[in-house]
Amino acid sequence: MSLNLNREIAAIVPSASMVTMAKAKRLKAVDAEIVDLAGGEPDFDTPRKICDELFRQINAGYTHYTVGNGLPELREKIAAKLRAENGCAGYDADSVIVTPGGKYAIYAAVRALVNPGDEVMYLTPGWVSYPAIAQAAAAVSVAVPLDPDEGYRITEETLEEKVTSKTRLLIVNYPNNPTGRVLTRPEAEILRGFVLRHPDVVLLSDEMYEKILFDGNENVSPASYADIAPRVVTVNGFSKCVAMTGWRIGYMAASPEIVKVAAKLFQHTISCTSGFIQKAAAVAFECGEEIEAMRRAYQERRDFFVGGLNAVPGVHCEMPEGAFYAWTKFDLPGMDSNQGGEYILNNAKVVGVPGVSYGEEKGCWMRFSFATDDAQLRRAVANVARMMKGLRK
Ligand SMILES: Cc1ncc(COP(=O)(O)O)c(C=O)c1O
Repeated sequence: MSLNLNREIAAIVPSASMVTMAKAKRLKAVDAEIVDLAGGEPDFDTPRKICDELFRQINAGYTHYTVGNGLPELREKIAAKLRAENGCAGYDADSVIVTPGGKYAIYAAVRALVNPGDEVMYLTPGWVSYPAIAQAAAAVSVAVPLDPDEGYRITEETLEEKVTSKTRLLIVNYPNNPTGRVLTRPEAEILRGFVLRHPDVVLLSDEMYEKILFDGNENVSPASYADIAPRVVTVNGFSKCVAMTGWRIGYMAASPEIVKVAAKLFQHTISCTSGFIQKAAAVAFECGEEIEAMRRAYQERRDFFVGGLNAVPGVHCEMPEGAFYAWTKFDLPGMDSNQGGEYILNNAKVVGVPGVSYGEEKGCWMRFSFATDDAQLRRAVANVARMMKGLRK
């Protein structure tokens, strides 16, 4: 019996990071020596205050549907944060939809903005789900490769090379998964110029890692430019910066026209984001100290881990400016990143996500997460050093 399935969705490749995470868990269950650096989530617990609020809400019976795009008090807090911390003066509570995870916010925004056959540009190396989400909307995803030899800097030429009359959306993500790069002011100006030159294009800025910044780097939110703000969608959430991956809560902020259309999809597919989770997430705005403590820990781990990898001949990793990933190039002759990933797993017992999953076709790049404890990171560096030494003998 042959079924008629949705062609676009059936053709989507499974999320490489989810597949690798599942594989790492399977391997670790039978071999405790495996170092799992594949996952994209903090190893820290969610701050206590947030968990306490969740239990308080559930015990008080706050377990019913909520109405609208999110609890008004949470949307107000999010909008106030976007105005005060990100300089996005145009946002108010009505600009915000609270979604089950940032991923759904991206999906809702893409579905609200593109029609079948439209083109969605996204920068590579880039997060694995952007092309898949575009594909689910029957849009055409267009990778915009940034050059490692230029420090993955955005240039006007690279953007102009890929834009066509069908382009409706450009997706950017800073701090970046997987490279750890942040958006500089000059690059933000390039994005601004691009949006101004192309009136049919909307910019989606995924700022999911915005508080995980190192060495005094700052996050630039494109929606802080008033002249392009109506054509910018800002996506953020609580997963990475507040260690709330499993809670599934995030948000999008956009102009009233975009929110109106995205809200229709949201209402009919999700109804509402869980009320007790929203109440608890509101407490995240009082967790500045906990968030900063995690950031400091990531910076210490980054220094140790990236420093350690760079001391190994044949291994190179640019110092990440934000997020918690080491985007690492291996000199493994004749191997692409899939083969290299297998080699590293078999010979160093370290699991990372192959670079090709992020659109990096050339060379053997791997993404390792350093959101894990020091002992695991030490073991990973020692094993990689031993493996590379063996290879060079
Ligand atoms: C760049 C980026 N954006 C969005 C997300 C989705 O986050 P959430 O867990 O809130 O859905 C992730 C998670 O891996 C991510 O890395």
